[in-house]
Amino acid sequence: MPNSEANLEQLEVDFQARIDAEERIEPKDWMPEKYRKTVLRQMSQHAHSEVIGMQPEGNWITRAPSLHRKIVLLAKVQDEAGHGLYLYSAAETLGATREELVQLMHEGKAKYSSIFNYPTLTWADIGAIGWLVDGAAIVNQVALQRTSYGPYSRSMIRICKEESFHQRQGYEIMLKLANGSPEQKAMAQDALNRFWEPSLMMFGPTDADSPNSAQSMKWKIKRKSNDELRQAFVDQTIKQIEVLGLEMPSKDIKWNEERGHYDFGELNWDEFFAVIKGNGPCNRQRLAHHKKAHDEGAWVREAARAYEAKKKARAEKAA
Ligand code: 3HC
Repeated sequence: MPNSEANLEQLEVDFQARIDAEERIEPKDWMPEKYRKTVLRQMSQHAHSEVIGMQPEGNWITRAPSLHRKIVLLAKVQDEAGHGLYLYSAAETLGATREELVQLMHEGKAKYSSIFNYPTLTWADIGAIGWLVDGAAIVNQVALQRTSYGPYSRSMIRICKEESFHQRQGYEIMLKLANGSPEQKAMAQDALNRFWEPSLMMFGPTDADSPNSAQSMKWKIKRKSNDELRQAFVDQTIKQIEVLGLEMPSKDIKWNEERGHYDFGELNWDEFFAVIKGNGPCNRQRLAHHKKAHDEGAWVREAARAYEAKKKARAEKAA
C-alpha cells in the first residue's frame, strides 16, 4: 500500500529517532529514498576508489626493489581488490547491481577518489601512498566504522584492520629511504612534496563547500566533517614527518597555539575540482585501463553466471 504523506512524515520521524538512538539501519528496514541514494553513492564511490587505487601501485609490482618488497606490495594491492569486493557487496544490499555501479563510473556519473589520478613516478611514491593515502583513508574509515548503515559499518571494521598494515608498510619504505643515501632521501622528500596536498584533498572540499555534509552528518552516514578529519590527519602526520627527518612539504605548516592544531595553509581547490571533474593528470588513463580490464573479464563473469545457473538447476531438480 502506498504511503500517504502523513504516514511518510511519521516514518521519517521514526527513522531519525532510530539514528539518534545509535541504531544501525539494515537492508530490509524502511529508509528515506534520499538516505538510500546517499549511502549507495558514497559506498559505490568508495568501492570504485579501492579498485582504481590498485592501478598506481600495480604499476610498481614488477619494479619493486627486492623480492620481499614485491611480495608485500602484491599482498597490499590484492587487499585493495578485496576491499572493493566487500564494498560492492555491501552496496548491492541497497538495490543496485555491481554491474550498474561500474557502468555509472565508466560513464563518468560516479566518482572515485581524486588521489588516484596522480602518477607514481618513483619507488618512493609507493612509500608515500601507503603512508599518506592509506593513512588518510584510515582516519576517514575509523570514523566510518560507526556509520549508520549496518553493512557499510561492518565492512569498515574489517577494512581498517588491513589498512593499518598498509600504512605501516608505506611508512617503513619512507623510513628506509629517508635514512638511506642522499639520493634516496631526496626521492622520499620529492614523493612527500607531491603527495601531500592531494592526500589532504582526499577528505573532500571544505565544510563550507561540501553540499552533502549537513544531511549526511544528520543521518550519521558521516560521523565527522571533511575539515575535522583533514585536521586530525594533518596533526598526526606532521609528527611522523619529523620522525622521518624530512622537510615540511609546505611553508604554511605551523603549530597554532590558540587552535591547538597545526595550520597548513590554503589548498589548491581549483586543482581538486578539475581532478574530480575528470581533468587530473591520470583520469583518462585510469578509466581506460579499468574499462579494458572489465571488457576483457566479460567471459569470466559469463562463465561464473552459467556455472551458478547450472548449479541452481541441478539443486532444483534434486529437490
Ligand atoms: N575525490 C573524488 N570526489 C570527491 C572527493 C575526493 N577526494 N571528495 C569529495 N568528492 C566529491 C563527492 O563525492 C561529491 O560528489 P557527488 O555529489 O557527485 O558524489 C562532491 O565531491 C562534494 O563533496 P561532499 O563533501 O559533499 O561529498 P561527501 O559528503 O560524499 O564527502 C567523502 C566526500 C569525505 C570523500 C565521503 O564520500 C567519504 O567519506 N567517502 C568514503 C571514503 C572514501 O571514499 N574513501 C576513498 C579513499 S581511498 C581508499 O579508501 C582506498 C584505500 O585503499 C587507500
